[in-house]
Amino acid sequence: MGYKVVVAGATGNVGREMLNILAERQFPVDEIAVLASRRSQGTEVSFGDRTLKVRDIEQFDFAGWDIALFAIGSDATRKYAPIAAKAGCVVIDNSSLYRYDPEIPLIVPEVNPDAIMGYAKKNIIANPNCSTAQMVVALKPLHDRARIKRVVVSTYQSVSGAGKDGMDELWDQTKGMYVPGQEVAPSKFQKQIAFNVIPQIDVFMEDGATKEEWKMVAETKKIVDPSIKVTATCVRVPVFVGHSEAINIEFEDFLDEDEARDILREAPGIMVIDKREPGGYATPVECVGDFATFISRIRQDSTIENGLNLWCVSDNLRKGAALNAVQIAELLGNRVLKKG
Ligand SMILES: NC(=O)c1ccc[n+]([C@@H]2O[C@H](COP(=O)([O-])OP(=O)(O)OC[C@H]3O[C@@H](n4cnc5c(N)ncnc54)[C@H](OP(=O)(O)O)[C@@H]3O)[C@@H](O)[C@H]2O)c1
Repeated sequence: MGYKVVVAGATGNVGREMLNILAERQFPVDEIAVLASRRSQGTEVSFGDRTLKVRDIEQFDFAGWDIALFAIGSDATRKYAPIAAKAGCVVIDNSSLYRYDPEIPLIVPEVNPDAIMGYAKKNIIANPNCSTAQMVVALKPLHDRARIKRVVVSTYQSVSGAGKDGMDELWDQTKGMYVPGQEVAPSKFQKQIAFNVIPQIDVFMEDGATKEEWKMVAETKKIVDPSIKVTATCVRVPVFVGHSEAINIEFEDFLDEDEARDILREAPGIMVIDKREPGGYATPVECVGDFATFISRIRQDSTIENGLNLWCVSDNLRKGAALNAVQIAELLGNRVLKKG
């Protein structure tokens, strides 16, 4: 016996990937409903070898459904998540709407699985931001060994993190550069993204940080440990899928680079690729479609007493969103809803 599962946002980047991952991991699905806005009603999406017709979320009755994976953005989530939760369907949400609500657990299953029991307060569980999810998978096993004091992270985030419109803009702008008269002006992004990098993701906050940078700080504290200090610079790069991060970590205790490499090799969800030779590291192109978070370039930071540098790459649509959401559903199934 399996679950009655809803995927809301099934026509989007994350929703489509959720369907792929539910099928790939053979999540026990008895029945599945795929939802999006009214404009997508009747659109077909793939689920394993089946083709499903998208339904209008506005008309959908969540009563009797077990789990709803939401990837529809904060505005639509604000409207529909409470309706689903009230109907008894547990919502696992990808938007940022509920991440900082103390009554809603924010979960990365490799890091804080025990937080799952907090789901019952509101029947909603939040999925972290893509750049946070992959970073905390790498930080947690190192924190357990040597206590992290401070993290300095710079991100190189792909355009798929801005949804399907972001991918279209990079594609069209790149093509437009070669065809006179077909140049594409920035619309989804603040400046030209083709052949460029943009040091702004999300809006500016009062202190000069962007909201994306603030999210990495607040979410790392909520998921791993409130005592960890994080400072981030988040940058959009012309890569379709796969976020990369250069992470500098300062620890309370000394941690040797070889021991760190061994710890990360054993840690759940991580694949270490760290040969000190040309090409002996992971890049976004290689991580697309993979479940793992890839760690490379692990090395001592000799400018401080207890410091390490590393390079962290992951498929943002997977670990950064859809995979993490399905892992939460698996956790919920194993620990709470227990069927089949
Ligand atoms: N992409 C990432 O790396 C990533 C990572 C973590 C979290 N997230 C979050 O996941 C969510 C979805 O992101 P995405 O990248 O998949 O975006 P996307 O490709 O733009 O897809 C958006 C989806 O939401 C649906 N939608 C929009 N407005 C709706 C409404 N009023 N009612 C019902 N459905 C509506 C769209 O349906 P239509 O096709 O009908 O418009 C589409 O299925 C966002 O909250 C995003 O912040 C994304």
